[in-house]
Amino acid sequence: MDTETARIPVVVAGITGKTGSAVGRAVYQAPDLALAGGLSRNHAGENLGALWGIEAFPWVLGDTLGAFNLPHAVLVDFTEPETALPRLLEAAERGWDIVAGTTGFSAEGRVELANCVVRCGVGAAVIANFSLGAWVAERLAAEASRYFATAEILEGHHVTKRDRPSGTARAMAETLGQRMKRSPDDIPVHSLRLPGMVAHQTVVFGSQGQLLSIRHDVHDRTAYVDGVLAAIRWVCRVEGRMVTDLGEILDSEAAPHEDVRL
Ligand SMILES: NC(=O)c1ccc[n+]([C@@H]2O[C@H](COP(=O)([O-])OP(=O)(O)OC[C@H]3O[C@@H](n4cnc5c(N)ncnc54)[C@H](OP(=O)(O)O)[C@@H]3O)[C@@H](O)[C@H]2O)c1
Repeated sequence: MDTETARIPVVVAGITGKTGSAVGRAVYQAPDLALAGGLSRNHAGENLGALWGIEAFPWVLGDTLGAFNLPHAVLVDFTEPETALPRLLEAAERGWDIVAGTTGFSAEGRVELANCVVRCGVGAAVIANFSLGAWVAERLAAEASRYFATAEILEGHHVTKRDRPSGTARAMAETLGQRMKRSPDDIPVHSLRLPGMVAHQTVVFGSQGQLLSIRHDVHDRTAYVDGVLAAIRWVCRVEGRMVTDLGEILDSEAAPHEDVRL
């Protein structure tokens, strides 16, 4: 098979951002993926190579999907929820698969996206945290919640993070709520927004005379890259399906496990 034609074309929205730039660079380097371009608000029309300091890099950044004449691609989105939702819906309508890392969508927005994915027959991964370590921490916390009756979540992020609590903390509260048979609103979440933080979360379980803490720290946005690349490969293999749990991708037979070991 011709490797060039077998590559999956990927467009990264938010490629000039903190997370999108780490993801975009990883896509550019992956042998089975082809970086078809990127979207930016403030840098649209500029050359991505110039921004990245790479010579002979052909791509100029767009500001809409219409800038790309591609019958199929995977749209990866790390932007902001207000503009991401219509962009993701448009991508699905075009028959593109989608990988959304942007957090802060409303419950109605998520339902609209899920319905659109099914109707358009595309694959979608809308996941609050693509870090494998965070997913392992959630599994460990789910196990601990079988034995502890009380838990609280402490999450901390950089000062520019807009949603509070984080999507990861909300997902953790959902998981714990289900396991502990209570509403997620009954699992307290404490949010810090401080310079020096990137993304940190600790679940503290309390019981008579003892505490158990399950903690995960992201020091660098490359922590999200392996999960995003696994999701890109996965969404191309399914039709009319949207997942919100990274574990569904990592545990599926379609997942290239050797690519996602920590
Ligand atoms: N799921 C996960 O694992 C995960 C991990 C980290 C972050 N996130 C989420 O990802 C999102 C981005 O976070 P970040 O820290 O990377 O933010 P950031 O550094 O502020 O980057 C945001 C990016 O979005 C672009 N953008 C904003 N509006 C746009 C529009 N209308 N059209 C095209 N591009 C637009 C910006 O472009 P300009 O540079 O041109 O302004 C920038 O490239 C947040 O929702 C965050 O919570 C999720």
